[in-house]
Amino acid sequence: MPAKIIDGKKIADGILENLKSKVKSMNEKPGLALVLVGDNPASEIYVNFKEKTCKEVGFYCERHNFGKDADEMELLNLVTQLNNSPKIHGILVQLPLPKQIDENLITNSILPHKDVDGFTAVSLGHLFSGNTIMAPATAMAVMRLIESTGTRIEGKNAVVVGRSNIVGKPVAMMLLEKNTTVTICHSKTEGIAEKARKADILVAAVGKPKLITKEMVKEGAVVIDVGINRVNGKIVGDVDFENVKEVAGFITPVPKGVGPMTIAMLMENTLKAMELAKKI
Ligand code: GUN
Repeated sequence: MPAKIIDGKKIADGILENLKSKVKSMNEKPGLALVLVGDNPASEIYVNFKEKTCKEVGFYCERHNFGKDADEMELLNLVTQLNNSPKIHGILVQLPLPKQIDENLITNSILPHKDVDGFTAVSLGHLFSGNTIMAPATAMAVMRLIESTGTRIEGKNAVVVGRSNIVGKPVAMMLLEKNTTVTICHSKTEGIAEKARKADILVAAVGKPKLITKEMVKEGAVVIDVGINRVNGKIVGDVDFENVKEVAGFITPVPKGVGPMTIAMLMENTLKAMELAKKI
Protein backbone atom coordinates (compact mmCIF):
# COMPACT_ATOMS: atom_id res chain seq x y z
CA MET A 1 0.00 0.00 0.00
CA PRO A 2 1.47 3.43 -0.86
CA ALA A 3 2.49 5.68 2.03
CA LYS A 4 0.21 8.25 3.62
CA ILE A 5 1.50 11.69 2.75
CA ILE A 6 2.10 13.89 5.81
CA ASP A 7 0.75 17.30 4.82
CA GLY A 8 3.16 19.62 6.63
CA LYS A 9 1.62 22.72 5.07
CA LYS A 10 -1.88 21.87 6.35
CA ILE A 11 -0.63 21.07 9.86
CA ALA A 12 1.44 24.28 9.90
CA ASP A 13 -1.51 26.37 8.70
CA GLY A 14 -3.60 25.01 11.59
CA ILE A 15 -0.90 25.96 14.11
CA LEU A 16 -0.55 29.45 12.61
CA GLU A 17 -4.34 30.02 12.67
CA ASN A 18 -4.31 29.08 16.33
CA LEU A 19 -1.45 31.47 17.07
CA LYS A 20 -3.17 34.25 15.14
CA SER A 21 -6.33 34.05 17.22
CA LYS A 22 -4.31 33.92 20.46
CA VAL A 23 -2.28 36.99 19.45
CA LYS A 24 -5.40 38.96 18.45
CA SER A 25 -6.50 39.14 22.07
CA MET A 26 -3.07 40.22 23.39
CA ASN A 27 -2.23 43.84 24.13
CA GLU A 28 1.50 43.27 23.86
CA LYS A 29 2.50 41.36 20.70
CA PRO A 30 5.32 38.80 20.46
CA GLY A 31 8.29 40.50 18.74
CA LEU A 32 10.79 38.78 16.46
CA ALA A 33 13.98 40.31 15.03
CA LEU A 34 15.29 38.76 11.82
CA VAL A 35 18.91 39.41 10.89
CA LEU A 36 20.17 38.68 7.39
CA VAL A 37 23.83 39.12 6.44
CA GLY A 38 25.09 38.92 2.86
CA ASP A 39 23.41 37.91 -0.36
CA ASN A 40 22.85 34.16 -0.11
CA PRO A 41 19.69 33.72 -2.25
CA ALA A 42 18.37 30.75 -0.23
CA SER A 43 18.80 32.66 3.06
CA GLU A 44 16.97 35.63 1.58
CA ILE A 45 14.01 33.42 0.59
CA TYR A 46 13.87 31.83 4.07
CA VAL A 47 14.02 35.19 5.85
CA ASN A 48 11.34 36.61 3.53
CA PHE A 49 9.06 33.70 4.46
CA LYS A 50 9.73 34.15 8.16
CA GLU A 51 8.98 37.88 7.94
CA LYS A 52 5.77 37.32 5.96
CA THR A 53 4.52 34.66 8.39
CA CYS A 54 5.39 36.81 11.38
CA LYS A 55 3.24 39.63 10.03
CA GLU A 56 0.40 37.27 9.08
CA VAL A 57 0.08 35.94 12.63
CA GLY A 58 0.13 39.47 14.03
CA PHE A 59 3.59 39.47 15.63
CA TYR A 60 5.79 42.55 15.76
CA CYS A 61 8.67 42.01 13.32
CA GLU A 62 11.94 43.87 12.76
CA ARG A 63 14.24 42.99 9.91
CA HIS A 64 17.91 43.99 9.82
CA ASN A 65 19.90 43.50 6.62
CA PHE A 66 23.69 43.72 6.34
CA GLY A 67 25.89 43.56 3.24
CA LYS A 68 28.27 40.65 2.67
CA ASP A 69 31.22 42.71 3.98
CA ALA A 70 29.64 43.38 7.36
CA ASP A 71 31.95 42.90 10.33
CA GLU A 72 31.53 41.13 13.63
CA MET A 73 31.45 44.32 15.68
CA GLU A 74 28.46 45.73 13.77
CA LEU A 75 26.56 42.48 14.30
CA LEU A 76 27.50 42.20 17.97
CA ASN A 77 26.31 45.78 18.51
CA LEU A 78 22.98 44.98 16.87
CA VAL A 79 22.49 41.79 18.91
CA THR A 80 23.23 43.76 22.12
CA GLN A 81 20.67 46.37 21.13
CA LEU A 82 18.09 43.63 20.38
CA ASN A 83 18.92 41.81 23.64
CA ASN A 84 18.04 45.04 25.46
CA SER A 85 14.91 45.86 23.46
CA PRO A 86 11.66 45.21 25.37
CA LYS A 87 9.74 44.97 22.07
CA ILE A 88 11.90 42.07 20.87
CA HIS A 89 11.30 38.66 22.44
CA GLY A 90 13.09 36.52 19.87
CA ILE A 91 16.27 37.06 17.84
CA LEU A 92 17.14 35.05 14.75
CA VAL A 93 20.42 35.51 12.87
CA GLN A 94 20.08 33.58 9.63
CA LEU A 95 22.92 31.10 8.98
CA PRO A 96 25.27 30.68 7.23
CA LEU A 97 27.12 33.92 7.90
CA PRO A 98 29.91 35.23 5.62
CA LYS A 99 33.35 33.72 6.27
CA GLN A 100 34.82 36.75 8.10
CA ILE A 101 32.19 36.40 10.85
CA ASP A 102 32.45 33.85 13.66
CA GLU A 103 29.02 32.17 13.68
CA ASN A 104 29.55 30.70 17.12
CA LEU A 105 30.40 34.07 18.60
CA ILE A 106 27.35 35.79 17.10
CA THR A 107 24.94 32.96 17.92
CA ASN A 108 26.11 32.81 21.52
CA SER A 109 25.79 36.56 21.96
CA ILE A 110 21.99 36.15 21.85
CA LEU A 111 20.45 36.00 25.32
CA PRO A 112 19.28 32.42 25.95
CA HIS A 113 15.68 33.47 26.65
CA LYS A 114 15.57 35.28 23.28
CA ASP A 115 17.19 32.38 21.41
CA VAL A 116 14.18 31.31 19.32
CA ASP A 117 16.46 29.22 17.06
CA GLY A 118 17.65 27.18 20.03
CA PHE A 119 21.21 27.36 18.69
CA THR A 120 23.07 28.87 21.66
CA ALA A 121 25.26 26.61 23.79
CA VAL A 122 22.89 27.23 26.71
CA SER A 123 19.78 26.14 24.73
CA LEU A 124 21.56 23.09 23.33
CA GLY A 125 22.84 22.23 26.82
CA HIS A 126 19.28 22.28 28.16
CA LEU A 127 18.11 20.14 25.24
CA PHE A 128 20.88 17.59 25.78
CA SER A 129 20.14 17.36 29.49
CA GLY A 130 16.49 16.53 28.78
CA ASN A 131 15.27 19.86 30.08
CA THR A 132 14.41 21.67 26.86
CA ILE A 133 13.68 25.39 27.02
CA MET A 134 13.96 26.35 23.35
CA ALA A 135 14.59 23.65 20.73
CA PRO A 136 15.74 24.32 17.16
CA ALA A 137 12.65 24.88 14.99
CA THR A 138 13.51 22.33 12.28
CA ALA A 139 14.08 19.60 14.87
CA MET A 140 10.76 20.52 16.52
CA ALA A 141 9.08 20.36 13.11
CA VAL A 142 10.44 16.84 12.52
CA MET A 143 9.16 15.65 15.90
CA ARG A 144 5.70 17.18 15.42
CA LEU A 145 5.37 15.61 11.98
CA ILE A 146 6.30 12.19 13.38
CA GLU A 147 3.78 12.69 16.20
CA SER A 148 1.09 13.69 13.66
CA THR A 149 1.13 10.13 12.27
CA GLY A 150 -0.07 8.75 15.62
CA THR A 151 2.66 6.07 15.41
CA ARG A 152 3.96 4.78 18.74
CA ILE A 153 7.70 5.46 18.64
CA GLU A 154 8.88 4.35 22.08
CA GLY A 155 11.35 1.46 21.77
CA LYS A 156 11.50 1.78 17.97
CA ASN A 157 14.61 2.20 15.80
CA ALA A 158 15.20 5.72 14.54
CA VAL A 159 17.90 6.51 12.00
CA VAL A 160 18.94 10.11 11.41
CA VAL A 161 20.99 10.67 8.26
CA GLY A 162 22.96 13.90 8.81
CA ARG A 163 24.72 15.27 11.88
CA SER A 164 24.43 19.04 11.59
CA ASN A 165 24.16 21.13 14.75
CA ILE A 166 20.96 22.68 13.36
CA VAL A 167 19.05 19.48 12.53
CA GLY A 168 20.73 16.06 12.81
CA LYS A 169 22.15 16.30 16.33
CA PRO A 170 19.11 17.99 17.98
CA VAL A 171 16.65 15.63 16.21
CA ALA A 172 18.67 12.64 17.45
CA MET A 173 18.52 13.99 21.01
CA MET A 174 14.79 14.65 20.81
CA LEU A 175 14.14 11.14 19.47
CA LEU A 176 16.24 9.71 22.28
CA GLU A 177 14.17 11.71 24.77
CA LYS A 178 11.11 9.90 23.34
CA ASN A 179 12.78 6.55 24.10
CA THR A 180 13.62 5.54 20.55
CA THR A 181 16.94 3.79 19.80
CA VAL A 182 18.82 6.27 17.67
CA THR A 183 21.52 5.74 15.05
CA ILE A 184 23.15 8.77 13.45
CA CYS A 185 24.60 8.25 9.97
CA HIS A 186 26.91 10.70 8.18
CA SER A 187 29.25 10.97 5.22
CA LYS A 188 31.82 8.60 6.76
CA THR A 189 29.29 5.94 7.86
CA GLU A 190 29.87 2.53 6.31
CA GLY A 191 26.80 0.65 5.12
CA ILE A 192 24.23 3.45 5.38
CA ALA A 193 21.65 1.49 3.34
CA GLU A 194 21.76 -1.48 5.67
CA LYS A 195 21.39 0.75 8.74
CA ALA A 196 18.62 2.84 7.15
CA ARG A 197 16.67 -0.34 6.31
CA LYS A 198 16.37 -1.08 10.03
CA ALA A 199 14.68 2.25 10.71
CA ASP A 200 11.07 2.46 11.84
CA ILE A 201 11.61 6.22 11.72
CA LEU A 202 13.97 7.58 9.10
CA VAL A 203 14.98 11.24 9.09
CA ALA A 204 17.00 12.52 6.12
CA ALA A 205 18.85 15.81 6.69
CA VAL A 206 21.97 15.86 4.55
CA GLY A 207 21.25 18.13 1.60
CA LYS A 208 21.88 15.47 -1.08
CA PRO A 209 19.10 15.14 -3.67
CA LYS A 210 17.32 11.76 -3.62
CA LEU A 211 20.03 10.12 -1.48
CA ILE A 212 17.45 7.89 0.21
CA THR A 213 16.21 5.32 -2.27
CA LYS A 214 13.41 2.74 -2.02
CA GLU A 215 15.94 -0.02 -1.28
CA MET A 216 17.05 1.83 1.87
CA VAL A 217 13.59 2.02 3.45
CA LYS A 218 11.82 -0.55 5.63
CA GLU A 219 8.24 -1.33 4.72
CA GLY A 220 5.85 0.85 6.73
CA ALA A 221 8.55 3.24 8.03
CA VAL A 222 7.86 6.89 8.87
CA VAL A 223 10.10 8.90 6.51
CA ILE A 224 10.78 12.58 7.22
CA ASP A 225 12.62 14.52 4.53
CA VAL A 226 14.37 17.67 5.74
CA GLY A 227 16.32 18.25 2.50
CA ILE A 228 15.70 21.28 0.31
CA ASN A 229 17.78 20.93 -2.86
CA ARG A 230 17.44 22.82 -6.11
CA VAL A 231 17.81 20.54 -9.14
CA ASN A 232 17.19 21.99 -12.62
CA GLY A 233 15.14 24.80 -11.10
CA LYS A 234 12.97 22.36 -9.11
CA ILE A 235 13.02 21.86 -5.34
CA VAL A 236 13.61 18.24 -4.31
CA GLY A 237 14.33 16.60 -0.98
CA ASP A 238 16.93 14.09 0.21
CA VAL A 239 14.44 11.26 -0.38
CA ASP A 240 13.48 9.77 -3.73
CA PHE A 241 9.84 10.55 -2.94
CA GLU A 242 8.12 8.91 -5.93
CA ASN A 243 9.71 5.50 -5.30
CA VAL A 244 10.05 5.60 -1.51
CA LYS A 245 6.33 6.32 -1.11
CA GLU A 246 5.67 2.83 -2.50
CA VAL A 247 7.24 1.21 0.60
CA ALA A 248 7.02 3.75 3.45
CA GLY A 249 4.05 3.93 5.83
CA PHE A 250 4.17 7.73 6.06
CA ILE A 251 6.27 10.25 4.17
CA THR A 252 6.69 14.03 4.06
CA PRO A 253 6.77 15.72 0.66
CA VAL A 254 9.21 18.44 -0.42
CA PRO A 255 8.02 21.17 -0.65
CA LYS A 256 5.06 21.39 1.78
CA GLY A 257 6.52 19.06 4.38
CA VAL A 258 9.12 20.07 6.97
CA GLY A 259 9.63 23.62 5.55
CA PRO A 260 6.27 25.19 6.52
CA MET A 261 6.31 23.35 9.86
CA THR A 262 9.71 24.83 10.69
CA ILE A 263 8.35 28.34 10.28
CA ALA A 264 5.29 27.51 12.41
CA MET A 265 7.64 26.19 15.14
CA LEU A 266 9.68 29.40 15.00
CA MET A 267 6.49 31.37 15.61
CA GLU A 268 5.61 29.09 18.57
CA ASN A 269 9.10 29.65 19.98
CA THR A 270 8.66 33.43 19.67
CA LEU A 271 5.44 33.31 21.66
CA LYS A 272 7.17 31.09 24.22
CA ALA A 273 10.04 33.60 24.42
CA MET A 274 7.56 36.35 25.26
CA GLU A 275 6.15 34.20 28.07
CA LEU A 276 9.68 33.50 29.34
CA ALA A 277 10.46 37.22 29.35
CA LYS A 278 7.54 37.84 31.71
CA LYS A 279 9.02 35.36 34.22
CA ILE A 280 12.45 36.98 34.24
N1 GUN B 1 19.84 28.36 8.19
C1 GUN B 1 19.21 27.22 7.81
N2 GUN B 1 18.23 26.89 8.69
C2 GUN B 1 18.26 27.86 9.65
C3 GUN B 1 17.47 28.08 10.80
O1 GUN B 1 16.58 27.31 11.18
N3 GUN B 1 17.80 29.20 11.52
C4 GUN B 1 18.80 30.03 11.16
N4 GUN B 1 19.05 31.08 11.94
N5 GUN B 1 19.54 29.85 10.09
C5 GUN B 1 19.26 28.77 9.32
